[in-house]
Amino acid sequence: MTTPEPPVRPTDAETADRLRGAPFEPIGRFADASNATLLVRLTDRDPRTHEDLAADLGRDPALDDVDPVDLAVYKPRRGAAPLWDFPAGTLHQREVAAYEISAALGWDLVPVTVLVDDGPFGVGSLQRFVPHDPTHHYFHLLDHGDEDVIDQLRAMVVLDAVIDNADRKGGHVLLEHPVTTGSTGGADAGDAGDAADAEPLLSGRIQLVDHGVSFNVEDKLRTVGWHFAGEPVPEVLRADVVRLGQAVVGGPLGERLAGLLAPEEVAVLLDRIARVAELTRFPEPSGRHPFPWPML
Ligand SMILES: Nc1ncnc2c1ncn2[C@@H]1O[C@H](COP(=O)(O)OP(=O)(O)O)[C@@H](O)[C@H]1O
Ligand SMILES: [Mg+2]
Repeated sequence: MTTPEPPVRPTDAETADRLRGAPFEPIGRFADASNATLLVRLTDRDPRTHEDLAADLGRDPALDDVDPVDLAVYKPRRGAAPLWDFPAGTLHQREVAAYEISAALGWDLVPVTVLVDDGPFGVGSLQRFVPHDPTHHYFHLLDHGDEDVIDQLRAMVVLDAVIDNADRKGGHVLLEHPVTTGSTGGADAGDAGDAADAEPLLSGRIQLVDHGVSFNVEDKLRTVGWHFAGEPVPEVLRADVVRLGQAVVGGPLGERLAGLLAPEEVAVLLDRIARVAELTRFPEPSGRHPFPWPML
């Protein structure tokens, strides 16, 4: 008897192509969002409208009725609340730029995000939906994540320093389903009783969302991620940041960033990349507002 293969996540390139080409329909709005952030369903695989689905089900469709690969998060430019410190109408471009940086670093921390120009509310960003349990946020993962999860949080701190994320809340850190539970917290392998009592640690892929207020020309790093302050920055992360700098200068990545950010923002990004590549220790909170509010 053969066991069925677990579902394989499509590659980023496949997902990006699909997001760019597929028609989509809004099915909900995130209540905690500060902008018009919409949950949408890609209708290329199943062209039924929301109304058709409701008619077939005999009730309003719930989230569980939709395959998560058919879901995405759409942030139309015109739904973004104006901010005093960011140029109007650019937040969706910063979302895409953050994905580009994460992808170029090879860290797979930001879900695929593309620009769309013909969404139901016009130009905006469209991001792969990440199925997750909202109780598994940053603060929960610090205590309950396995070593690999904690390493991904370290990479998050470095990514945020590079993109100068001005709003890394705990709830913008998602642990993608399916969550596999690995080793047990601090249990002695030789002691079955302890191991049975110990809570299993969470493992899986961290995915980060909400990067609309990044890449300012002024340093605005505002994050919950100060827990690693003073620890050495892993060499492998610094080496990736050095490579990122080389990729931004002159390559196709630089061209794509030039279409998303202002020239002075790309120049400042290069400065930041150079500074972060030199960081031997994780930074301490600094500046006037180092913590986001609310924290979650
Ligand atoms: N790609 C995604 N996958 C799953 N949930 C998401 C995704 N992007 C955002 N969310 C959910 O929507 C909420 C609002 O999104 P966020 O990016 O914070 O919007 P805003 O820019 O309006 O603040 C997030 O806190 C998260 O719960
Ligand atoms: Mg938000």
